[in-house]
Amino acid sequence: MVDVRLVPVSADNWRDCVALRVVVAQQRWVADVSYYLCLCTYGDTWHPLAVEVDGRVVGFLMWGVDDDASRWIGGLVVDAGAQRRGFGAAAVVAAVRVLVAQEGCTGIGLSFAPDNAVARGLYARLGFVETGETEGDGEVVARMSLDTARAVAAG
Ligand SMILES: CC(C)(COP(=O)(O)OP(=O)(O)OC[C@H]1O[C@@H](n2cnc3c(N)ncnc32)[C@H](O)[C@@H]1OP(=O)(O)O)[C@@H](O)C(=O)NCCC(=O)NCCS
Repeated sequence: MVDVRLVPVSADNWRDCVALRVVVAQQRWVADVSYYLCLCTYGDTWHPLAVEVDGRVVGFLMWGVDDDASRWIGGLVVDAGAQRRGFGAAAVVAAVRVLVAQEGCTGIGLSFAPDNAVARGLYARLGFVETGETEGDGEVVARMSLDTARAVAAG
């Protein structure tokens, strides 16, 4: 798997995060990273991480903790110019590693638009299982059990 690092969003890299752009056809599935950063800053749910490869920001994601102590991954974005090189999958694996190491983690959840075939396939191949739950405006929920998360984290 390619070598990505999840790093804090900071005074040094927030502009690189905000500059991330997805392909036009993908814009309906995610918000701008600037919106996600506001959600993280002014809301009380999400925490931001930049996805770095060789010291360069190529993507972004957020994590949060649900009422049942499951961890959630949201707002996954890989810049259009950096897609299809394994960075998205590696970023999710890196996030699983971070989240499963947190005290009290009971599993990991995420959601995606049902027609987002790339995200859907990526998550399924990594071990996220669709539960039949939906979220917000019809997003499909998929969850990774604690055991699977530990196995994924162990690589
Ligand atoms: C989803 C996303 C993060 C994937 O990032 P990525 O770096 O391109 O993903 P990877 O290179 O790790 O590819 C993961 C898998 O998807 C496949 N894939 C990636 N982009 C694809 C495309 N445009 N068409 C078909 N397959 C694609 C890859 O072939 C790979 O398949 P594999 O697991 O069989 O090898 C990226 O496409 C993106 O930012 N999309 C827009 C935002 C979005 O939808 N985020 C998810 C919200 S839930």
